[in-house]
Amino acid sequence: MIIPPDSYWPEIQRIVDKYGILLISDEVICAFGRVGHWFAYEKFGYRPDLVTFAKGVTSGYIPLGGVMVGNRVAEVLIEQGGEFNHGYTYSGHPVACAVALANLDVMEKENLPGRVKDDIGPYLAKRFAELGEHPLVGLAETCGFMGGLVLSKNKAMHEAFDPELGVGMLCRGHCFRLGLIMRAVGDRMIIAPPLVMTHEQIDEMMTLIRRCLDATLVDLQAAGQMD
Ligand SMILES: Cc1ncc(COP(=O)(O)O)c(C=O)c1O
Repeated sequence: MIIPPDSYWPEIQRIVDKYGILLISDEVICAFGRVGHWFAYEKFGYRPDLVTFAKGVTSGYIPLGGVMVGNRVAEVLIEQGGEFNHGYTYSGHPVACAVALANLDVMEKENLPGRVKDDIGPYLAKRFAELGEHPLVGLAETCGFMGGLVLSKNKAMHEAFDPELGVGMLCRGHCFRLGLIMRAVGDRMIIAPPLVMTHEQIDEMMTLIRRCLDATLVDLQAAGQMD
């Protein structure tokens, strides 16, 4: 998970507009409130032609993925007619779609995107920023209700660990042992917790993250990899 700088999406939009390229927004992770909006393209202000989605549409209670098709693509399919072969055995399964509709009703009623934008997202950002002071953390950043920590050998120099050491997996091992689900992508530790989390639960999660980082630091010091 890499959070783009503010200049990223305007520049992508400029390039695709200039060359007439279709823009696909992969929102498998970041739709349905995750970044404080129903879709990430709303937060970042770009205009996709196609949007892929999954996870949050049913909150994972039943598997469902899909693609939203914008007018630019739909009009070609409609105008040219004929057969649009894109089906899978269980495409459009009514049970999965009914679960999605029920789930979206709850999300709407509880205003979960707004809750992320105005309440738990800013609170997570504030608490996550504190982790930036940990000796093992080179970068701590959030976007809505997702967070990423880059583990670094020397934070002042932004020095990465030797990938052979598998520091991210070492840290993940401590997380799982202490009952925290935090994924390792290389040496970047990422979380995407439930959007119904309370401030108290965020505090509990931060305590666990700190304990995992401390345990990882002890291991690295014992291995002579950190002072
Ligand atoms: C951003 C993103 N896109 C696509 C996928 C893959 O989705 P699927 O397993 O439905 O192919 C994932 C899976 O986690 C993902 O995080």
